[in-house]
Amino acid sequence: MKKIAVLTSGGDAPGMNACIRAVVRTALHNKLQIFGIKRGYQGAIEGDFIKMKSAMVSNIIQLGGTILQSERSKEFRTKEGRLKAYEQLKSKGIDGLVVIGGDGTFTGAQVFMKEFRDIDIVGCPGTIDNDLYGTDFTIGYDTAINTAMEAIDKIKDTANAHNRLFVVEVMGRDAGYIALRTAIATGAESVLIPESKTDYPLLFKTLKKNLKKKKRSGIIIVAEGDESGGAFQVAKEVGSHFKDYEIRVTILGHIQRGGRPTCMERVNASRMGRGAVEALVDGTSGVMIGIVHNKISYTPFEHAIKYTRSINPILLDMVNVLS
Ligand code: F6P
Repeated sequence: MKKIAVLTSGGDAPGMNACIRAVVRTALHNKLQIFGIKRGYQGAIEGDFIKMKSAMVSNIIQLGGTILQSERSKEFRTKEGRLKAYEQLKSKGIDGLVVIGGDGTFTGAQVFMKEFRDIDIVGCPGTIDNDLYGTDFTIGYDTAINTAMEAIDKIKDTANAHNRLFVVEVMGRDAGYIALRTAIATGAESVLIPESKTDYPLLFKTLKKNLKKKKRSGIIIVAEGDESGGAFQVAKEVGSHFKDYEIRVTILGHIQRGGRPTCMERVNASRMGRGAVEALVDGTSGVMIGIVHNKISYTPFEHAIKYTRSINPILLDMVNVLS
């Protein structure tokens, strides 16, 4: 292997830049030529490649977003699109690829690898949702939960000042990891996540208990993908049962995707980026690099996509016990 490339694909996540930096510098350390591909798989199709030098990744470890930019390429889902990407990679002599992204990114990589067997691909888990099997933390998750926690701390100030109940929606299309962690960290009254059935009776019991104690302020956290239908729907449901609560809704949205990566994020992303290049050098392909119990792990793309890590029920129960 002499030439490799790196791209970021799907939703961006803080820490992607730290990962890119580690990929570039580890490649150069191993005397490989390294290309950055702009805008994910779409840039691969269009031949939007940049030959990377060490200085190009100076001063990016602390930045959110991704210097390579990201896209969810529709064209790469077609056979013609993937063939174009293959031809572009081959024309540059690239025989190894590091893809940083989530399950959509790895699904694309897996299909590509079945069609074109002479380009090795290794993935790094990049998504704030933390919804990939084979790693304890995805790149972006730690920063996102800290961003959400800080925002909810601020909401708590105004909630207490006005005796209001806030329903706060956090990101997580199919997963409740962000919701659950931030609910524990902010002492929320309740959390609603896609992994468990919406339990309105339990929520109403908590709210009744609080009213008895004359507590009318509070926080309910709802994951974007919860089957309740989102924060506005939950607010409507609660409002129709309780006239004593003054309710407000906040959707945190894309604020959770940006910002300076936390220390833990930068370190984990650097470890994974380095691990990805070392795996390619060792002839490994078709795996996602993760960190499990503080050790670098290798999970086939197929498993990373197919399996889900279950939510810890003790953490879920804790929200109710401690509220
Ligand atoms: O996968 C990360 C994520 O932030 C999800 O939590 C969210 O549902 C989705 O991306 C939003 O995607 P977009 O930025 O394309 O609207």
